[in-house]
Amino acid sequence: MNAITFLGNSTMIPSQCILRAFSRISPSKYIRDTTFRSYHSRFSSCINQYSNANSDRIIRPTNAVPFCTDRQSSVTAQVVSEARSLSASTTCANDTTLDQIYTKNGLNVKPLVVERLKGHEKDEEVVNGDDKSVNRDGFEGAKSNNVEDEAWRLLRDSIVTYCDSPLGTVAAKDPTDTMPSNYDQVFIRDFVPSALAFLLKGESEIVRNFLLHTLQLQSWEKTVDCYSPGQGLMPASFKVRTLPLEEDKFEEVLDPDFGEAAIGRVAPVDSGLWWIILLRAYGKITGDYSLQERIDVQTGIKMIANLCLADGFDMFPTLLVTDGSCMIDRRMGIHGHPLEIQALFYSALRSSREMITVNDSSKNIIKTISNRLSALSFHIRENYWVDKNKINEIYRYKTEEYSMDATNKFNIYPEQVSPWLMDWVPESPDSGFLIGNLQPAHMDFRFFTLGNLWSIISSLGTPKQNQAILNLIEEKWDDLVGHMPLKICYPALESSEWHIITGSDPKNTPWSYHNGGSWPTLLWQFTLACIKMGRPELAEKAVTMAEKRLQADRWPEYYDTRDGKFIGKQSRLYQTWTIAGFLTSKQLLQNPEIASSLFWEEDLELLESCVCVLTKSGRKKCSRAAAKSQILI
Ligand code: GLC
Repeated sequence: MNAITFLGNSTMIPSQCILRAFSRISPSKYIRDTTFRSYHSRFSSCINQYSNANSDRIIRPTNAVPFCTDRQSSVTAQVVSEARSLSASTTCANDTTLDQIYTKNGLNVKPLVVERLKGHEKDEEVVNGDDKSVNRDGFEGAKSNNVEDEAWRLLRDSIVTYCDSPLGTVAAKDPTDTMPSNYDQVFIRDFVPSALAFLLKGESEIVRNFLLHTLQLQSWEKTVDCYSPGQGLMPASFKVRTLPLEEDKFEEVLDPDFGEAAIGRVAPVDSGLWWIILLRAYGKITGDYSLQERIDVQTGIKMIANLCLADGFDMFPTLLVTDGSCMIDRRMGIHGHPLEIQALFYSALRSSREMITVNDSSKNIIKTISNRLSALSFHIRENYWVDKNKINEIYRYKTEEYSMDATNKFNIYPEQVSPWLMDWVPESPDSGFLIGNLQPAHMDFRFFTLGNLWSIISSLGTPKQNQAILNLIEEKWDDLVGHMPLKICYPALESSEWHIITGSDPKNTPWSYHNGGSWPTLLWQFTLACIKMGRPELAEKAVTMAEKRLQADRWPEYYDTRDGKFIGKQSRLYQTWTIAGFLTSKQLLQNPEIASSLFWEEDLELLESCVCVLTKSGRKKCSRAAAKSQILI
């Protein structure tokens, strides 16, 4: 549960709705550009109105304490100089003082307000997803069925509002659950399938609000034990809280969790990546590119990108993260360079490259992004890929090779090729997958579904690899799909491995939850990957199977056992991303042409620069013809 408690009941209807908006960035902390310093007074006027109920956890808008730290930021002056200032505290929409404040601040930027559509512009009311729904974009109207009707009703029921406008969906809404923990919050990653379901239905307001409000949360200061993570970090989740004011009035505030309250105190690295991916999807589906062109949104993209692209000690182009920094948000031995993060990182960088407005000040970041994309895809395609032949090669590896020309670059001891893998890897050269993680002397050979699916969707893998991953899923259907699509990872950690790697986590016992449980929310991503590779029938098979059980089982978060037969031991019911994932899958299958705007094809320009960079560096290993031919297949 969240450590900060506010007085008041979150279900209370505020008699007066107050929207708080805060400065994105404290100039004294992040700007060395003297021209910007002259704006000090504007930022320092902000007052922190939140009580710090827990000294371990401090959340506040950055401008509440504008001059308190001197931490250097990777955010470049160029990015910051595009930052926009927002007012300190202001009343909700319809209040003309908002415009005045912005004019007074002298910045030619659009204020972030909950932008209400005028009556006639509003999406037409949709009841239970039936055919009265708006289909502004001309999608083929599909006949709904019972299961879909219920799913739409539940999805709409999970909507959270802020200042009377829809803002997101709670993670789960089981009416019988008296201890929702933080499942009553809006999670960034969980909202993505909800957002797509709404966008595909022609309803964009909730998604637009979500993107703009979470952007505001990005610049809050977040601290655990006097230490702050980098600017640009997006929260894992947030909650709309209602605070009492004097005279029976209430205000609503957003209370984000950046990991400082989360179990394990892990920063959600994937949140910002998902935010960027969703922003691109919003533009593609609605055709409204003005949102991504806004200065504040452009700054938000660059802050996330800068945080991820910051130089460190790492020798790999992959992103170095702690355990549990993504969908698997508990200890599962995925610290280092887990595939899931790399695939989302690649997708977010490709999205950013498309969305960042090209001008003199953005040239450098676009170049940095392109270089990273090339290096990342080369590294993953070369080093994460396994099929029968590659496993055999690793099985025969020599070790302790000190040289630039080493075959066994990461000094992998062949004993790591465990018996399950030798049995499991398909005979066919047309089947294979990307391994879960790669570190010095460590290959994590487990199959992680989300990472493999996003490698297909983003073209992180070669076209041949992408096809081979789907072949593997088809061949290993009983293991990876079983009674409920899809296994989060395969196989489960058992016995001493479970003890040591999970820290004896009772929620992650073998074949449960993150440790080999089956997660229906993965269905929409599987559907997208199948449509991309021209195999929609595979997705249809999985959706049909899920449809038979989800409603009767009350839309569980996850399933347990080796073949996903049981509803998960501690699984929430009426889990929103299960519901939304199902609806999104259905809509994608009905509208494959829209689905095609959500994935990426191979980018030959990126491949060329990869080969070129490698050739220039003069490292024989990297420019070998074999690598090039694999990449270009
Ligand atoms: C669990 C999942 C995480 C999800 C959250 C809310 O913590 O591991 O991925 O975002 O629940 O549904």
